[in-house]
Amino acid sequence: MNKILLSLILAVGGLAVFHYGLFPIFTPKEAGWITNRYVYYLLFVFYMIVVNVGMRLQPPMALKALYVWLLGFYFYDAILSPHIPWTLFITYMMLWSIGTFLYISQDPITFREFRSPIVKTIIGEYKIARVVVFTLMPILVGFATYNTIYPSFAEPVELRTVHPAPPSTTKVHGKTYKLEEIGNPFRTDEQDNYKDSFPFLDKTEYMKNVTEGGTIFFQNCHYCHGDQLNGLGMFSHAFNPTPANFIDPGTIAMLQESFLFWRVSKGGPGLPNESTPWSSAMPPWEEHLTTDEIWKVILFEYWYTGWHPRTFDTEGSTAE
Ligand code: HEC
Repeated sequence: MNKILLSLILAVGGLAVFHYGLFPIFTPKEAGWITNRYVYYLLFVFYMIVVNVGMRLQPPMALKALYVWLLGFYFYDAILSPHIPWTLFITYMMLWSIGTFLYISQDPITFREFRSPIVKTIIGEYKIARVVVFTLMPILVGFATYNTIYPSFAEPVELRTVHPAPPSTTKVHGKTYKLEEIGNPFRTDEQDNYKDSFPFLDKTEYMKNVTEGGTIFFQNCHYCHGDQLNGLGMFSHAFNPTPANFIDPGTIAMLQESFLFWRVSKGGPGLPNESTPWSSAMPPWEEHLTTDEIWKVILFEYWYTGWHPRTFDTEGSTAE
């Protein structure tokens, strides 16, 4: 009995030390060979074997089965990364339980050995164990029931600033731009004369830039912002906040091109805190596009939607 208790204490204590102490330290974000979580898990399994075999604790069959079962549970619940959905978890655990059961029921002797402590507890031969089990069981069931029935409260809705105040300057590709002073270098058509022009056919410099911007858009942006620029790209449904709808008068129509330049270059990661709680999925395009390409895709977005960017000389032109 003492050996059994020692084995149990070593297992529980070992798991606690491993789970709360060692495991978090040795599994930093990026995994290398030596910082690999699975390696540490294997070490823990090794520890369990060494302790029980090395110290000749000879845990009874039921305890061995419990160890094996719990090691599987721990692996699927805490080690396996990324965490699997719980339906899959249940499936794996069922397979794992069947495997464990096959092991303990391999022959009548093993199975009798496995059963014996359980039977002895039930019929009262292990008095303390019986008292503990029969008091803990109702308490645990009651607690679990209470937990599932207890209503959970949703987080309060937090309002998010969709168009935060931009910074006064922004640094893109090593060059600092004062947002108040810059405009789109490719915007030569202030009067929107080319609204009805057809890309590829109209060979003016302006339409050439619009066409290039369109190419960039359909190579990079339409997955989210949609091929009609209405924010309904094929990936759009996966995001909260959803990608901006450029047709809507509430987005680029009321913004300055310099604001767009900042938003496109810096993306979601560049948003100030007031634009949380849901950070935006918009990528920081300065990492993929040149400064000229960013300006051209912006030019395209205005040309396609027919909006004219807000300019600084209009009254009350500050973006909100
Ligand atoms: C991974 C999806 C995704 C891709 C790809 C993407 N965007 Fe976005 N974009 C978003 C989301 C989501 C928002 C809305 C975020 C917000 O409201 O803060 C957004 C917002 C914007 C805005 C700000 C509009 C406003 O009203 O403030 C602009 C401009 C923009 N995107 C341009 C682009 C351009 C140009 C490209 C291609 C070079 C692009 N986006 C590619 C997801 C994407």
